Amino acid sequence: MKYQFPQHFYWGSAASATQTEGAAFSGGKGENIWDHWFKSEPNRFHQGVSATDASTFYEHFRSDIQLMKDINHNSFRTSISWARLIPDGTGDVNPEAVDFYNQVIDTLIEQGIEPFICLFHFDMPMKMQALGGFENRYVLQAYADYAETCFRLFGDRVKHWFTFNEPIVPVEGGYLYDFHYPNVLDFRRAATVAYHTVLAHAMAVSKYRELKLNGKIGIVLNLTPSYPRSQHQADLEASNICDLMFNRSFLDPAIRGEYPQQLVALLKQYGQLPDIHDGDRELIAQGKIDLLGINYYQPRRVKARLSAVNPNAPFVPEWFFEPYEMPGRKMNPHRGWEIYEKGIYDILTNLREHYGNIPCYISENGMGVEGEEKFLKDGQIQDDYRIDFIREHLKWIHRAIEEGSACFGYHLWTFIDNWSWCNAYKNRYGFYRLDLATQQRSLKKSGEWFAQISEANGFDD
Ligand code: BG6
Repeated sequence: MKYQFPQHFYWGSAASATQTEGAAFSGGKGENIWDHWFKSEPNRFHQGVSATDASTFYEHFRSDIQLMKDINHNSFRTSISWARLIPDGTGDVNPEAVDFYNQVIDTLIEQGIEPFICLFHFDMPMKMQALGGFENRYVLQAYADYAETCFRLFGDRVKHWFTFNEPIVPVEGGYLYDFHYPNVLDFRRAATVAYHTVLAHAMAVSKYRELKLNGKIGIVLNLTPSYPRSQHQADLEASNICDLMFNRSFLDPAIRGEYPQQLVALLKQYGQLPDIHDGDRELIAQGKIDLLGINYYQPRRVKARLSAVNPNAPFVPEWFFEPYEMPGRKMNPHRGWEIYEKGIYDILTNLREHYGNIPCYISENGMGVEGEEKFLKDGQIQDDYRIDFIREHLKWIHRAIEEGSACFGYHLWTFIDNWSWCNAYKNRYGFYRLDLATQQRSLKKSGEWFAQISEANGFDD
């Protein structure tokens, strides 16, 4: 069968500033939470590797962009590092950073690669975190000012903007599950950060509208369908609560301009609702997006809890569900994640049926492989498993598009194997292998394959 994609479909990959640039303490960059946390707890990072050892995009962006061109990328997403552009979070703009991002954007455009730019990919400037990060409304204004600075500096050339990448992840990691700084466990504070992130998003969107730039603005969400174990009422309820907490908490405000009433009622019932100020509702309504980025790696499967909750234990989402391991599920054994390709179709169909078929694209999808060096043969990583992974997801995307989904592109996570927060270089995702010792990049088999399908705008299978 032929899988031909619509004209002007965006093919490419995604990365982020802190994960690729390196130069964490040079070029005038300020400290962010990752630099700070590494100093105090290096043991939290796989093999003690910090963002200083990210893949040197700051230095090698020109040749890296050439490598993108070599595999027929027509688009690429990265982020701007807030702490590089405005080292203190507010105030003076760093001219070296302006120069760097201008050069990156211009080089991409010269190579025919559309820059998709995200404003925040997990990397809060430390000076802002010291004030409470997104718990503090002052920091929301600082973020909105930073966003405005980016729009004014780069908005003449950047036509695809994203306010946040996976905004729920810093909430989960930093305030519930202990995998991001500041390592707090407090649901109400988590809910406050989530709520304030939505407000910050809306402030940036409305600023973008005011400037009347010729482009579009959206957000990147990790949407993970919550499949119930069975159709039993209790399992359905568990999956509904997961959907409200992990998907709709950002999806509804971003697309509908308001929160789901059920989520508000649930948080209220458990005394976890953040402080709501006059004018917030109107602000959230201004945050409606033009386009959505969807990150999808694995499904969430859940069942009703079997045991009672310890009322003295901290309130967490798991009060309402337990993870469910479906017998016979297909696994990526190298990362321990389930592979469920149809999930991507279910997300797109849900958006088409319930969210006005918002223009969207797959902003991240990919297969992490620990110990990928074992697939090195004759100098190349033979990642047939990644080709299968991408191809099977693309088939479901194709089907969703045929049924009317407004999906306009596909980006793999990631371009070159990159540093990934506490997992550092544990799981490899790139089209290009990175030799950590020499920083040399070499094309994997999946990169060769992707170059062909991008050029042909589809494939036969
Ligand atoms: C995505 C994030 O969810 O997962 C990326 O947006 C991250 O920043 C990627 O690198 C892979 O994560 P991991 O933990 O498998 O390396």
